[in-house]
Amino acid sequence: MVEWTDFERDTIKDIFSKMEYEVVGPAALARCLVVYPWTQRYFGNFGNLYNAAAIMGNPMVSKHGTTILHGLDRAVKNMDDIKNTYAELSVLHSEKLHVDPDNFKLLSDCLTIVVAAQLGKEFTGEVQAAFQKFLAVVVSSLGRQYH
Ligand code: HEM
Repeated sequence: MVEWTDFERDTIKDIFSKMEYEVVGPAALARCLVVYPWTQRYFGNFGNLYNAAAIMGNPMVSKHGTTILHGLDRAVKNMDDIKNTYAELSVLHSEKLHVDPDNFKLLSDCLTIVVAAQLGKEFTGEVQAAFQKFLAVVVSSLGRQYH
């Protein structure tokens, strides 16, 4: 089981409570699709992903980016049991969507960049460490049901 310090718990709750899901989620997913274009292969039904402008203006990307953040919200609310919280979502990404689990890390790095840019000076080294620890647990839990 993952241990969290009070600082880590407070930091994660604080970041997510201030976050605009419908801004940050779309920006993170769009960034991932732009800088790691091979991640586009899972979104063949999303229409035009032809270039960065098309990706950033694509309403399906925006909608799904927001969905992903609502998915992360479940981990924030269940920090002591992220693994079980994501059991079903892990099965979905593995068995139904066939998403290579390496991609979870790519998306989480894009999310870190977007959050860092938004928080500016508030995103101190300690805050970054807490945020990245949280995302590492998410990434590992989403990868749990792969075999
Ligand atoms: C669907 C969460 C990463 C590909 C979903 C759904 C959620 C979710 C909540 C909707 C599930 C449902 O409809 O029941 C997450 C979280 C991620 C993550 C929390 C990591 C932080 C990824 C990555 C990829 C991916 C990295 C591919 C590169 C997909 C696809 C769908 C999906 C293709 C179905 C989309 C659709 O057609 O509506 N994800 N996801 N996910 N996810 Fe993820």
